[in-house]
Amino acid sequence: MIIPAAQHVHALLASYPDFPQPGIVFRDLNPVFADAVAFRAIIDDLSERYRGQFDAVAGIEARGFLLAAGIGYAARCAVLAVRKGGKLPGTVLTEEYDLEYGSARLELEVGQLPAGSRVLIVDDVLATGGTVAATARLVERAGYLTVGVGVVLELAELDGRSRIGDVPVHTIVSV
Ligand code: PRP
Ligand code: ADE
Repeated sequence: MIIPAAQHVHALLASYPDFPQPGIVFRDLNPVFADAVAFRAIIDDLSERYRGQFDAVAGIEARGFLLAAGIGYAARCAVLAVRKGGKLPGTVLTEEYDLEYGSARLELEVGQLPAGSRVLIVDDVLATGGTVAATARLVERAGYLTVGVGVVLELAELDGRSRIGDVPVHTIVSV
């Protein structure tokens, strides 16, 4: 029997109140990634949703890297690493953004893909949407096109979708 990705996420997702600071309920997807069947199910779900629509998958540091690697392999496409500030060499584009807990900087190296490449952005959690919105700005500034966003878990009350604009957003589970 094939268990849908959403069912795996509901079964394995862990929640930690007051982490990393008071008032935040931290959603930990590592138990989902640590289950071989669940991990394959989420990679298949995200890859299938956008099948044939992307030339590259952009994973956001850190847990988005795990997803991007799996999707890149499954879809036989290019993989981009969108990194936290100060980690990339060469010519990089930078975007600042606010988080549910603090603020941060994301970066992308230029010239990795042909202009106009269709990029799928993936991450583990969509919360305020600041991280994905900053990544979409990087993709656009690099000369590519964001064709979709795929995340495992959406924190619906934070309304991250409203910061992302017209790009399709697919989430496996919304809480
Ligand atoms: C978490 C999560 C997303 C981001 C979502 O990453 O993995 O990338 O927050 O938040 P947002 O929708 O409010 O922008 P975090 O910045 O904690 O970094 P990490 O994954 O490297 O620990
Ligand atoms: N990123 C932003 N908010 C988060 C949360 N509550 N749990 C996990 N990752 C997050």
